Amino acid sequence: MSRTVYVNGEYLPEEEATVSIFDRGFLMADGVYEVTSVLGGKLIDFPGHAARLERSLNELEMAVPMSTEELLEVHRELVARNGIDEGLVYLQITRGNPGDRDFAFPPADTKPTVVLFTQSKPGLAANPVAQVGIKVISIPDIRWGRRDIKTVQLLYPSMAKMAAKKAHVDDAWFVEDGFVTEGTSNNVYIVKGGKIVTRDLSNDILHGITRAAVVRFAREAQMEVEERPFTIEEAQGADEAFFTSASAFVLPVVEIDGKAVGTGTPGPVAARLRELYLEESLKAAV
Ligand code: PDD
Repeated sequence: MSRTVYVNGEYLPEEEATVSIFDRGFLMADGVYEVTSVLGGKLIDFPGHAARLERSLNELEMAVPMSTEELLEVHRELVARNGIDEGLVYLQITRGNPGDRDFAFPPADTKPTVVLFTQSKPGLAANPVAQVGIKVISIPDIRWGRRDIKTVQLLYPSMAKMAAKKAHVDDAWFVEDGFVTEGTSNNVYIVKGGKIVTRDLSNDILHGITRAAVVRFAREAQMEVEERPFTIEEAQGADEAFFTSASAFVLPVVEIDGKAVGTGTPGPVAARLRELYLEESLKAAV
């Protein structure tokens, strides 16, 4: 069934939605994005995603084309028009169409391109993967140095996903200077002796909106969280491992580079945090 999507102020059937071949998102990957999950027809962690979007735009000296309220309105309208109960809203803003190819940024008054679409994912909250966990491999992190900005430069993460596929596992963890940075599209954690360890925030990783919420809920539930880098060897010797993202919430990792983590089955901390996150973020959904 054809979706209704949003392009530069218009709601259109997906077949009729187009952007220019000169769009800087297409030619230069000059754009940023956000993915917000939908549960029970409501948006999860919307204020966090809106705030990070504004930060990404500011860091790249791109204009903020809409207010948070307008953005929320478009998200809600798309969820309603497409009858999304569980799924995702994808948003992308690029530096627009300057009418030709040029490395230099176009004049500041060039209209940005704003695109949003929904993805229906029935069963997102009841994902059976939460009961079995996923397997990952490690891969060198050769991405650029501003991973804190959520740009659409996703070629290397796509290549890492393909490397995982070829190795018959589910995902890859990036490693730089001997330490894990993050997953292809998620933040990663280990648990040892009840303590949760996750890499500290810097330009080396995306500041996950789900990460912020999960760390907060864990601390509120009196769990200890240490924010510091860890190695693959430390992760392999941990009791548990897991990852977070807007599209997966909290999911266990049971094998890293062929070695079982803990018992090789999902652990109690990841299960508890998934439960807590779904419960608490649903309460605050808009
Ligand atoms: N990815 N790190 C990277 C590199 C990511 O791409 C993502 C999200 C995260 C988790 O951030 P958040 O909790 O805000 O979703 C961490 C999205 C889901 C994607 O690209 O589809």
